[in-house]
Amino acid sequence: MSELQLSDVRKSYGNFEVIKGVDLDIKTGEFVVFVGPSGCGKSTLLRMIAGLEEITSGDLTIDDERMNDVDPSKRGIAMVFQSYALYPHMTVRENMGFALRFAGVPKAEIEQRVGEAAIILELGPLLDRKPKQLSGGQRQRVAIGRAIVRHPKIFLFDEPLSNLDAELRVHMRIEIARLHKKLATTIVYVTHDQVEAMTLADKIVVMRNGVVEQVGSPLDLYDDPANLFVAGFIGSPKMNFLKGIVDAGGTQVRLPDFGNATIPVAIKGATPGSSVTIGIRPEHFGDSGSASLDLTIDMLEHLGGETFAYARHGDGELIIIETKNGRGLKSGDSIAARFDPAAVLVFDADGRRLR
Ligand SMILES: Nc1ncnc2c1ncn2[C@@H]1O[C@H](COP(=O)(O)OP(=O)(O)OP(=O)(O)O)[C@@H](O)[C@H]1O
Ligand SMILES: [Mg+2]
Repeated sequence: MSELQLSDVRKSYGNFEVIKGVDLDIKTGEFVVFVGPSGCGKSTLLRMIAGLEEITSGDLTIDDERMNDVDPSKRGIAMVFQSYALYPHMTVRENMGFALRFAGVPKAEIEQRVGEAAIILELGPLLDRKPKQLSGGQRQRVAIGRAIVRHPKIFLFDEPLSNLDAELRVHMRIEIARLHKKLATTIVYVTHDQVEAMTLADKIVVMRNGVVEQVGSPLDLYDDPANLFVAGFIGSPKMNFLKGIVDAGGTQVRLPDFGNATIPVAIKGATPGSSVTIGIRPEHFGDSGSASLDLTIDMLEHLGGETFAYARHGDGELIIIETKNGRGLKSGDSIAARFDPAAVLVFDADGRRLR
């Protein structure tokens, strides 16, 4: 069943349209992650779902009930923000119970719900502390606890981990995945972090400029992007994009910036002579494969387990190559970067995927 539904949802500030017709179906229990460049409308869309921003036009339904004009407190939603201001003079217990107390929930029930949330988040021993006596990760867990005690149907998270250091982010990422398993509640989550999006999401929504570019499972988007934007956005380091010309027979692409290397790729619907973009992921290069590029290594990043080599043909653009066997490489080395043409993606001049 589809729990949360957006139909042609739009938002304008004055004449400035920031959400330009979003359609989205989110099923009960799904973990959905919004990604996209800064300013593309992720927070605005989340805040519209929460009821913190008015919806200019279109429909928002939860369990088939239209919610556009329903008060935020009556939508069955709890939101966790990036800056999770806790009340400094209240204990963890009081912070977590505050919204319930405000809503007039009986004391015994507040105690019980706070106790449950404390077990889930392992905050039991910290209930009588004040926020300043907690680490960043513990404070973030209290902020999540405040949302859990409300027993929402849907959790909304807006970059909840971006204030934490790298190690804590990894820890909290795993905590959030565990929380989702345990509660099986629908989650809509905004992040800038590729790894968070790839590891947490059942479904990623890639946005650009107020529009949804593609929706799919993390690996579907990675393996099968619909366009150049999604191909370049999902994956780190980024996919390499090379200019190509479709040859006369339509069965090969020639790369003018790479000594006219040719790659055998059969593309339906590409006119001979037309310009295309070839996409190759850094990890698709290796020592085998029937296609190859003659490159010179410009710079190397040795990460221990793997190496990123930045290489170019002549004075052309840099290509990123990821390899497990890069320890012997030196800058200035000439290499033949081989790859399997079957791993290559092709895009037309408008950035649409050609298959
Ligand atoms: N109250 C407002 N009045 C006018 N424009 C606004 C208002 N709030 C947001 N915007 C604009 O709406 C667009 C989308 O903003 P939003 O905060 O949703 O982006 P975002 O995708 O969450 O970005 P980030 O990744 O930086 O958080 C931006 O261009 C922003 O400047
Ligand atoms: Mg935002």
